Amino acid sequence: MAVSRGEFSSRLGFIMAAAGSAVGLGNIWGFPTQTASNGGAAFVLVYLFLAFTLAYPAFMAELLIGRYGQANAVTSLQKMSRTLFHKRFAFFVGFSGIVCAALILSFYGIIAGWMMSYAIEPVLTITGINSGAEWVITQSLPRNILFTGLFMFLTIFIIRRGVEDGIEKWSKRLMPMLITLLILLIAYVFTLEGADEGLLAYLSPDISRVLEPGLLISALGQAFFSLSLGTSVMVIYGSYISKKENLVTLGAQVTLIDVSIAFLAGLLIIPAMYVAQAQGVAIFAEDGSLISGSGLVFTVLPALFNTMGSGGLFVGFAFFVLMSIAALTSSISMLEGPVSYIVERHDVERKKATTFVGIIIFLISLAIISNIGVMLDFVAILATQYGQPIIAMLCCIFVGWIWHRNEILQEIQQGNEHVGSSFFWKIWPWYTKFVCPTAIAIVFIHSL
Ligand code: PHE
Repeated sequence: MAVSRGEFSSRLGFIMAAAGSAVGLGNIWGFPTQTASNGGAAFVLVYLFLAFTLAYPAFMAELLIGRYGQANAVTSLQKMSRTLFHKRFAFFVGFSGIVCAALILSFYGIIAGWMMSYAIEPVLTITGINSGAEWVITQSLPRNILFTGLFMFLTIFIIRRGVEDGIEKWSKRLMPMLITLLILLIAYVFTLEGADEGLLAYLSPDISRVLEPGLLISALGQAFFSLSLGTSVMVIYGSYISKKENLVTLGAQVTLIDVSIAFLAGLLIIPAMYVAQAQGVAIFAEDGSLISGSGLVFTVLPALFNTMGSGGLFVGFAFFVLMSIAALTSSISMLEGPVSYIVERHDVERKKATTFVGIIIFLISLAIISNIGVMLDFVAILATQYGQPIIAMLCCIFVGWIWHRNEILQEIQQGNEHVGSSFFWKIWPWYTKFVCPTAIAIVFIHSL
């Protein structure tokens, strides 16, 4: 039985959904903290360069694979295959991407659960339920189980509704909320003492660090994570775009939104850290570097919100709601990868497939939670530092070496006849064939 597929109903719907997938904890938490620990603006410059020269072409490769194949990642790649070997390779690449998405979701859901619990805490405090407020941030094991479960429930709830009624509708609601909250928070932080110093730290480059291998690797990893590459997500989102749309421009717009929101998040987080310092909160670790990672989000920022009195409860609430929304529009894309595969390849009804995959991923989360000190880092590193770059590289190899150049150009020209004559798109198949895989491999091997 052929399963009827969903499609984004509008250009805006696609942009919001794909930008929703791209914009997540990686932008609002990862990017600012990486910037802080890698020489401020030097990191920003390298990141921008790599995002446009490597991540964007790889991103386009994944979108084009999906739009050409009009199916889940495995089927789409297999449609380009001409030999049995190609088909097997297609299965390997597509399926690995789907597993990678599921693994990312299994730890991402835990972190998103922390964000939700920190958003609920001020609400409980305001309503006088102080014991509840204390419970959500101190009881780590039951709290983790409860909030990861809650977050997975929301993700499943949206994905069960399908493309137009689920992904598109919710991305269109949540993304504008996210952007508004982000801008309001930035405006507020800039009224506080210490923000200028933070702005300076964010924007003054230490150019001598630009070529440091550590910085290059972090910037590339950040760019790939941020555009959700190597996870089958952009293949499946690409497959829901109508052939009438101009994919090249849409892809560029999504990349621009993603990069801009990361940049804006830096304008919020780094000045906020210096405001915290002006309030007496310690923002440097013992080795003199800025506190980053969970120490920043769950210690420094809450300490800052605490110094703001009752107003701080609202700011804290807004900040963690922002984080939760960013996480949700990303997590739905991660779940869509495996769900679309099961629906299309195994003829399972969408709602059933969603609940089934969602529960399996939640069980993996529970396994991580049971030994969180070791497992969280292990799964995160496996999926994002190894899985994503390798799979993204294989997708480029697939497009460059297996797909026919004429077919590629034809697909690029759908919805935009003139693009084929532009220099960039003429060399793009060649670029994806040689430059992207080589550059990814070099940076990757370097990081080992
Ligand atoms: N891009 C998302 C972020 O920045 C994370 C993500 C990775 C989403 C992989 C989907 C797939 O948080």
